[in-house]
Amino acid sequence: MTTIVIFIFVSLTFSVIHPRAQFPQEKKNFVSFFSGGLSTLPPHSREYHFVNQKMTWTEAQSYCREHFTDLVTIYNSNINQLLLSISPRIDDSAWTGLYNDRYSWKWSMEGKLFYVGSTHEFLIWANGQPDCVKAKEYCVALQGQTQMYDRPCGDSYPFLCYNAKNTSYILVMESRSWSAAQSYCRTYHTDLTSIRSKEEKSNITLTLNGSGVQYVWIGLYRDPWAPWSDNTTSTFTNWMPSQPDNGNSEYCGPMHLMSGVWADGSCTDRHYFFCFTGEVQNANSVKSCHHVKH
Ligand SMILES: *[C@@H]1O[C@H](CO)[C@@H](O)[C@H](O)[C@H]1NC(C)=O
Ligand SMILES: *[C@@H]1O[C@H](CO)[C@@H](O)[C@H](O)[C@H]1NC(C)=O
Ligand SMILES: *[C@@H]1O[C@H](CO)[C@@H](O)[C@H](O)[C@H]1NC(C)=O
Ligand SMILES: *[C@@H]1O[C@H](CO)[C@@H](O)[C@H](O)[C@H]1NC(C)=O
Repeated sequence: MTTIVIFIFVSLTFSVIHPRAQFPQEKKNFVSFFSGGLSTLPPHSREYHFVNQKMTWTEAQSYCREHFTDLVTIYNSNINQLLLSISPRIDDSAWTGLYNDRYSWKWSMEGKLFYVGSTHEFLIWANGQPDCVKAKEYCVALQGQTQMYDRPCGDSYPFLCYNAKNTSYILVMESRSWSAAQSYCRTYHTDLTSIRSKEEKSNITLTLNGSGVQYVWIGLYRDPWAPWSDNTTSTFTNWMPSQPDNGNSEYCGPMHLMSGVWADGSCTDRHYFFCFTGEVQNANSVKSCHHVKH
């Protein structure tokens, strides 16, 4: 096994804003350690900060971006452990950069993030959608030819493939899960269809007209809990058993400061938080389209 040596410099910074804070007001703590065989290589050198103030997730994000680089992304268990080691280890929680962006939809054909808000010239969410029921609706189906619903990806529906060779739209009347539908389209045609223009939309409507289908899969989907606040992604997770459950609109993921496990929680709750200082890696592909509002 190749051993990758990573030095991570940890700075334990306590806020100086609360004069009566029970923790030391400013304390620097440099730690270095070794780590081997990582699948996701974290940035080589990062400074981590525990901020001893309670804020909502969005306020914490702004605070980190203003004073440091961003809220932390946890790429592996070493970083998770390290964050615990710089925290007060109390029965409370702290925000990390983990959140579930309901609008980070992308097309199967392109794999790029883009913003699909509630209104769009030709992409129309049905009323109240996307509703992300039980945090399990990460794939999109058209209903009644025109309106989009987020649906559980494991549901079986007919689907619409796009064939780039003869620019045609093929309605496959077999019911499959979203990913099985994607495989089928990629094998026999090009991919699940995108809807990128009015013309395309009207052709799709025409293809569906009279088919009698209820829901039909299209190529729109998203990865839950990705990207993190700094626009990077991580394959590491440390959820508490049975989490995330999206209990009651829970779109942010605080870490418990004694156990280090994650749960989903309401983004408007107030918690301590972890920031980092350092370079943001491989965020370019995401950054360019993620914030485009149509
Ligand atoms: C386009 O090609 C696909 C795959 O060969 C075929 O199933 C479909 O019927 C064709 N459509 C048109 C309009 O030629
Ligand atoms: C779709 O329909 C329009 C007319 O509304 C037509 O110009 C266009 O070629 C059709 N095909 C595709 C692939 O969009
Ligand atoms: C759907 O098809 C019917 C005939 O089967 C036609 O009267 C109607 O105009 C079509 N609707 C659209 C939106 O193309
Ligand atoms: C991540 O993308 C958002 C837009 O979605 C942008 O505002 C933010 O600055 C980016 N963050 C970083 C650290 O690149």
